[in-house]
Amino acid sequence: MFFCQNCGYQSPKWLGKCPACGEWNQFVEEKMTKTDSRNPFDIHFNGSPLSIEAIELNDKERIKIEIDEVDRVLGGGIVRGSSILVGGDPGIGKSTLLLQVLQSLAQKGLKVLYVSGEESARQIKLRGIRIGASSKNLFVYIEISLEAILKQIEEVKPEVVVVDSIQTVYSSNLSSAPGSVGQVRESSEQLILLSKKTGIPIFLIGHVTKDGAIAGPKVLEHMVDAVLYFQGDSGHAFRIVRGVKNRYGPTNEIGVFEMRENGLSPVSNPSALFISERPAGSAGSVVVPSIEGTRPILVEIQSLVSETSFGMPRRTSIGVDHNRVSLLAAVLDKICGLHLVNHDIFINVAGGVRLNEPAIDLGIVSSIVSSFLGRSIDVGTVVCGEVGLTGEVRGVGHMEARIKESAKMGFNRCIIPKTISDNVLPETKMTLIKVSDLNELIDHLF
Ligand code: TYD
Ligand code: MG
Repeated sequence: MFFCQNCGYQSPKWLGKCPACGEWNQFVEEKMTKTDSRNPFDIHFNGSPLSIEAIELNDKERIKIEIDEVDRVLGGGIVRGSSILVGGDPGIGKSTLLLQVLQSLAQKGLKVLYVSGEESARQIKLRGIRIGASSKNLFVYIEISLEAILKQIEEVKPEVVVVDSIQTVYSSNLSSAPGSVGQVRESSEQLILLSKKTGIPIFLIGHVTKDGAIAGPKVLEHMVDAVLYFQGDSGHAFRIVRGVKNRYGPTNEIGVFEMRENGLSPVSNPSALFISERPAGSAGSVVVPSIEGTRPILVEIQSLVSETSFGMPRRTSIGVDHNRVSLLAAVLDKICGLHLVNHDIFINVAGGVRLNEPAIDLGIVSSIVSSFLGRSIDVGTVVCGEVGLTGEVRGVGHMEARIKESAKMGFNRCIIPKTISDNVLPETKMTLIKVSDLNELIDHLF
């Protein structure tokens, strides 16, 4: 069989372009052996149906890691029997973070196992010295054979396992190479099954492809209980771990870390961090209170609008959706009469954060207008709201949390949508200005 290495699509003959995901040149032949066609009914959990009332829970269902930022992303700790996929660019800090997680658990007296197929025991020891990981409860096992790993997990009976990385694990039942779709699927299936059977939570580290998806079959993301992605580029010291899927907690929750000499250190007040380098009084910069998961974080959006020197105007954005920027620029052009068609627009979210909620629209618009006019926005002002195609400003959720966070960080004026009703607004010393469309927004800002 030929497998698409990008999405796992199967085909009996080689294809140039994958009909499922549209990628080119991804098909690789993998031999299918008899053992691969296992009877799925061989596997069962030996249970019988239970009334939902009769299912018992105990407070030991979650294991707290005691690293707040990781616990938060997981929704309050690791759930027993769950499998968690951790993805991110090479060198961003996946191995470091998980070794720190295991060290923290080992310190609490839990027996934990770090399986690595990427580094030697001495390399792991060296990293351990940097981050202060040394405990008799933290076991390191260098192995790539799936069968050996499964056997050791059952023998050692650790309370948490990390497999670094799933692409190196290799089952002798399949003849294809480690890292191929077949191998990745088989290994994860077996590891997840073992984790469900024994209740041992398991972290799988996954490599990402050049466009940021976890390498290997897309189904991997469906098989596991939670998916965490590392964001931020290795040029910055900040690392953001975002939960993109979580069966046992909120999604889109983020944990913020700073890469230091001695590993990743949690940043407990990200708002202060992301707006700390804000150039006061410069045109094109504005702060928005954005909701990441369950908490508000203040971030700075910057724009640079300059005349196009030739040809098509460019719309470049880092940290916000490119299409959203084009759309908002078109609205500004049509509704507010800003002549943006012959201007390049560059947008950047400071600190390497990625924002994807509509509530930041007002921030994008304000910073574009500010740069276009060359006039700065008052440093004590934050803006928040969604913008519609007719230039109307629409309501967004979590207004109370956004306003409280802005007040806490010392802002004194907040521009919000008119449609927000007064009873969701908190008592605050801030001046709240309600606007119903973009022209009103511009009147208040400049
Ligand atoms: P690593 O965890 O090996 O990344 P991944 O497993 O995602 O590939 O992180 C390696 C990077 O982190 C490397 O560039 C060095 C840096 N680093 C520090 O800055 N401080 C530290 O204490 C450690 C352990 C790593
Ligand atoms: Mg690594």
